[in-house]
Amino acid sequence: MDNNKRPETMERITTLELANAFIDEQIKAVREQVGDKKVLLALSGGVDSSVVAALLIKAVGKQLYCVHVNHGLMRKGESEQVIEVFGKELDANLIYIDATDRFLDLLAGEADPEKKRKIIGNEFIKVFDEEAAKLEGIDFLAQGTIYPDILESHGVKAHHNVGGLPEDMKMELVEPVKLLYKDEVRVVGEALGLPHGMVYRQPFPGPGLGVRCLGAITRDRLHALREADAILREEFDKCGLAGKVWQYFIAVPDFKSVGVRDNKRYEGWPAIIRAVNTVDAMTATIEEIPYEVLHHITDRITHEVEGINRVLLDLTPKPIGTIEWE
Ligand code: XMP
Repeated sequence: MDNNKRPETMERITTLELANAFIDEQIKAVREQVGDKKVLLALSGGVDSSVVAALLIKAVGKQLYCVHVNHGLMRKGESEQVIEVFGKELDANLIYIDATDRFLDLLAGEADPEKKRKIIGNEFIKVFDEEAAKLEGIDFLAQGTIYPDILESHGVKAHHNVGGLPEDMKMELVEPVKLLYKDEVRVVGEALGLPHGMVYRQPFPGPGLGVRCLGAITRDRLHALREADAILREEFDKCGLAGKVWQYFIAVPDFKSVGVRDNKRYEGWPAIIRAVNTVDAMTATIEEIPYEVLHHITDRITHEVEGINRVLLDLTPKPIGTIEWE
């Protein structure tokens, strides 16, 4: 039997009951596979790795070692949530590494988008590798592979290939959700008791805010981007757009314009709002945002975020614009 093929008889997991049955089945399978050995997992805080972590904590408890690398390009509150949920609530073996300075120092002055991606991807592997080397006797590597990753070898994760793990790691893979579609992973995540916001999180690229802080990243502009992005997310949550829009974020380019604040000249960066809908991320349409919401977001961002003095709206579908700016 091909282990990477979803059996035709497998029912789509849409209910709590089906999710619980799946979880029980996987707990058994994982225990059989792993025995009393140790398992390592790179926990980004994204939907897939979070669900795998929660499942494995149930199955093998402290035999699981979760490594969360904060590359300094996370959205506001994300690493904190990983620590809260996995480190505290689920009492996992969580190894948290704040590698912000390493990443930002390496990225300093680099404006080329592909080089930025490479730096982030390579450094991620390095940091993860270093941590793995400190742990003794790890035999298994868990991964949040899901069925679309297997089906679409040209899919987004494969295409961008960032945040991948070293190929020479000699560990057997544990991939408990590899036959599930995204919607099923979410149902299973809720059944496992993960917070709704974590389970229904919008997709976030591996290089994180690094591809939205356009051009050469500086700490002050990255900070402004993170704050503006948090306001956008908060307002989308409040007005119900969060559940309707597939991906929405802010990009901040590395140029300034003239403005005025408190009767003084105030130069600042523009914050660009991008909100798109898509099925497979290969094409995307523009979601309409009510003007009153836009005005309110603009008002908040320009008043609350140091360094931003304008808010712009990106109306470009994909094609011709990619979803991300870099
Ligand atoms: P584009 O910009 O190519 O993005 O239209 C399509 C989808 O892929 C995400 N994306 C990435 N995901 N690493 C990732 O894991 C990356 O380097 C990367 N670049 C883009 C993007 O957010 C969108 O959902």
